[in-house]
Amino acid sequence: MLDFGSQYTQLIARRIRELNVFSVILPWDVSTEKIKSLNPKGVILSGGPESVTESNTPRIPEIIFELGVPVLGICYGMQTLAEQFGGQVSSSKNKEFGHAQILLEKSSMLFDGFSSGSSIDVWMSHGDHVSTLPDEFILIASTASAPIAAMEHAQKPIYALQFHPEVTHTKQGNTVLENFTFKICQCAAQWKMENLIQQRIDEIKEKVGDQKVLLGLSGGVDSSVTAMLLDQAIGKNLICVFVDNGLLRKNEAEDVENLFKDKMDLNLLVVDAKKVFYRHLKGVSDPEQKRKIIGRTFIDIFDNEAAKLKDEMNFLAQGTIYPDVIESSESESKEARVIKSHHNVGGLPDDMKMELVEPLRDLFKDEVRKMGSELGLPLEMLNRHPFPGPGLGVRILGEISQEKVLTLQNADAIFIEELIQADLYHQVSQAFCAYLPVKSVGVVGDERRYADVIAIRAVETVDFMTATWARLPYDFLAHVSNRIVNELEGVSRVVYDISSKPPATIEWE
Ligand code: XMP
Repeated sequence: MLDFGSQYTQLIARRIRELNVFSVILPWDVSTEKIKSLNPKGVILSGGPESVTESNTPRIPEIIFELGVPVLGICYGMQTLAEQFGGQVSSSKNKEFGHAQILLEKSSMLFDGFSSGSSIDVWMSHGDHVSTLPDEFILIASTASAPIAAMEHAQKPIYALQFHPEVTHTKQGNTVLENFTFKICQCAAQWKMENLIQQRIDEIKEKVGDQKVLLGLSGGVDSSVTAMLLDQAIGKNLICVFVDNGLLRKNEAEDVENLFKDKMDLNLLVVDAKKVFYRHLKGVSDPEQKRKIIGRTFIDIFDNEAAKLKDEMNFLAQGTIYPDVIESSESESKEARVIKSHHNVGGLPDDMKMELVEPLRDLFKDEVRKMGSELGLPLEMLNRHPFPGPGLGVRILGEISQEKVLTLQNADAIFIEELIQADLYHQVSQAFCAYLPVKSVGVVGDERRYADVIAIRAVETVDFMTATWARLPYDFLAHVSNRIVNELEGVSRVVYDISSKPPATIEWE
């Protein structure tokens, strides 16, 4: 997939993977060597926000046509194809956005299974359109507002669509993508989880041989799946380090130790660094400063532990996944090997001359979960809500103390336990408690209590970029609030956070 910047680029890549065919997203200006090294069976050109009617906008590199493999241009991909083959693209005054019906003008392998003359419901989202077909191209579909809605090259396997086959609003979009993938590119449906696991194990074995690999295990999905995969590949040559920073959820350190050390028999080193973290955080209340201290302390401790190991560590494994790669490098061609900063390892210390092992680097989150489940990780763990790297450090407002951590851990455990009991846990995307150092008066039994406040937060979101507060039932909230105030001495009041994002972020700090 060549990316021209469409909001749907990742979706196209996923649709192809859902057909059990491997696909990878590359920027439109990727190097020729990179494309050649992948030996693609076909190329899809994504949509994009720019206009080919303007100069200096992205174009398809010549190498794509020299490969001789089938090409499918979508939206901007179609427009730049048309322009590069000598057709014309015009800007419309009105952007076409929404449902449309295309009429199939001529039979085409891309629309195999549909009879010509029939119409298909599609989703359009474009300003420009192809106004004159390039000489070598044939019209295959039209709509009232986009007379050239699909076209194909007269001799070569080059196809283009103005609409978006990848979105669910295009009802038969999957058939079109299947036709391109299987009938035109002749791909085999081999991207299956079991093959993938075996392939990754073989790759790790080949890269690492009988040398040692160090992994910072956080207990989150990505680093856990990475650990399981490496365990299968190299067994005891994998050394996992889990740092208990004292800012984890209740029982988390014990749970991680039980699962990975006792049950899975991994080579796991649990470092109890609670005191060091609390000491470094003492007197600090600024959120960004807390984040920095937590990150730096983690690196120091991790580095220190690695130095204590008697064997030389040649490799550092990381649970980097595909969205991290896309987020952290604007352009893959620049090959920015940015180390994921929040979850597993805060940054590779300069004097740790280790090579990276990142076996999940090209997988989406749901693929990582599927892999984890095949590798024997429990579903409750794989489907747990996300938890920020700095942990409770950004959920205790202001200065952190061990006492506040204990109160928050207990409050949070009550809330999560009740959500699970009420079958509400998976209906929200992320839920947690925050600790507000605000004294309020309460009455418990005959006594007045002057204690702090716990805020409950639960949000629904697809991408975590925007989120709405979850409309949890009042009776449920009442029950959770009662339990927290009654069971925890340090809390006099519970409030429910009814802010959406934006303007409020999901976390409180
Ligand atoms: P916000 O608070 O920005 O959070 O709406 C969006 C998502 O990111 C998580 N988050 C973090 N994760 N380190 C992390 O690893 C962080 O510093 C951090 N801050 C927020 C948050 O839990 C939510 O899922």
